[in-house]
Amino acid sequence: MSDNRLSPVLDPHALAKELSGKLLIDGALVPAASGKAFPIHNPATGERIGEAAEGDAADVDKAVQSATKAQKAWAKVAPRERGKLIGDCARLLQDHIEELARLIALESGKAIRTESRVEAGVFADVFQFYSGLGSEIKGETVPFKPGMLTLTQREPIGVVGAIIPWNVPLLLMALKVAPALVAGNTIVVKSAEETPFTVLRAAQIMNQILPPGIFNLISGDGPTCGAPLVSHKDVRKVTFTGSVETGKIIARTAAEKLIPVTLELGGKSPMIVMGDADLDKAVDGAVVGMRFTRQGQSCTAASRIFVQDAIHDEFVKRLKGKVDAMTMGDPLDEATDIGCIISQQQFDKVRSYIKIGEQSAGVTTLRCSAMPSDGKLSRGLFVQPVIFTGVSNDNRVAREEIFGPVTCIIRFTDYEEAIQQANDTEYGLSATIWTKDLKLAMDATQRLEAGVVQVNQNLVVQANMSYGGIKSSGLGKEASLESMLEHFTQKKTIIINLG
Ligand code: NAI
Ligand code: MG
Repeated sequence: MSDNRLSPVLDPHALAKELSGKLLIDGALVPAASGKAFPIHNPATGERIGEAAEGDAADVDKAVQSATKAQKAWAKVAPRERGKLIGDCARLLQDHIEELARLIALESGKAIRTESRVEAGVFADVFQFYSGLGSEIKGETVPFKPGMLTLTQREPIGVVGAIIPWNVPLLLMALKVAPALVAGNTIVVKSAEETPFTVLRAAQIMNQILPPGIFNLISGDGPTCGAPLVSHKDVRKVTFTGSVETGKIIARTAAEKLIPVTLELGGKSPMIVMGDADLDKAVDGAVVGMRFTRQGQSCTAASRIFVQDAIHDEFVKRLKGKVDAMTMGDPLDEATDIGCIISQQQFDKVRSYIKIGEQSAGVTTLRCSAMPSDGKLSRGLFVQPVIFTGVSNDNRVAREEIFGPVTCIIRFTDYEEAIQQANDTEYGLSATIWTKDLKLAMDATQRLEAGVVQVNQNLVVQANMSYGGIKSSGLGKEASLESMLEHFTQKKTIIINLG
């Protein structure tokens, strides 16, 4: 590696300042055309850590023009060579994991040990995974008749517009950028308002290897920067992760342009715990599934836990015990298990749902863990995790996505009743069942309406497994070879008359 490569910067405050007011267009860090920027705060302290460039339609146009120009040459690079470059990026990113982890902890409030470092590692790994798939972009031969050869070929779509949220920005960006680029597309990513810096740094690192214009990154708000990206005439594919509401706006624009769109939206994921389940494993599964370490800010959060009568009280007791034992505190402190909420807007939303639960008849509120005592965190957006018991499945706290550290325990007697209630939701992202009865578990895997169903575990899916929701949880799949082939290429049929 040449000496003039960027060295990791382990002071996230310095890095946030250095990246302030910048977009990455055509391989260079540049200010927004308007010169405008908006402040970014550390949600754990309220301290201002820098400013994000406020991109708008003019910057979108510059980035899309750069991506359009670069795409022609990129599509001609042999797929395996494109993969090799992405593999070089993955290796380089490995050297920056600690740097990226600290920066994301600073800007997002996610705890460094339990969340941020893990995400930075998985980020590099997604590029590693896709780097080997360039030569898997295969077509088919299609039987026709003697003297005729018919085949299909998968081609890049062109320029991809990607819009990402703040909860797992690096990982969700990787699931879009890696397959899009390996398949021969170029990309313009718009970061979330709350988390502009870590993804910009990652793009800057990768742009040391990629030719200019292949991977552009802009920041700005949804309506003035995201919307013009979706509607830009030269953007031929849009991929989005975020709220259902914004997903529908994006899908409408994509429909006007008749371009393909992938949507990863919200969830209200059920976890069914049968009376015969291994209780310790199920309780650990609830802690992991509910993403308490991420303050519950996850689209797959196990936010409806159906627990059978016989074990209900014991399950609740053990779950509360586990969450009580977790330490809430400074996201950059290695001892911290749980960081804080991302923004005042989300903080207010989460607290309003906690109030709804508290005021519901028959609901008991269990507040877990302890608020941080450190004075410098007194203005931080910390919320004590909440377990609601005695919740009915039609309560708003069980129907609407809270996106915070709040889970609902719903007691049930019969398996049939649990399945029926688990499916009684507008969402369909993820579901789990916990039991020793394999026949019952298999039945549940067939009947639960979700894009991912797991038995006796609640892990994050791996890069080679398709991931995506049904019902209001989204359209299309991410991760896996399938997502690259189905969502980042278009098929051409070629018929050759050999006579
Ligand atoms: P959002 O969906 O509004 O924002 C996500 C991204 O979309 C951001 O980059 C934003 O700038 C962009 N955006 C917003 N409006 C846009 C528009 N008109 N055109 C193009 N892009 C636009 O989500 P927000 O406001 O951050 O959070 C609201 C709720 O959404 C959360 O409480 C949570 O329930 C859900 N959410 C779900 C996520 C998931 O992983 N599925 C991630 C983040 C939020
Ligand atoms: Mg929004």
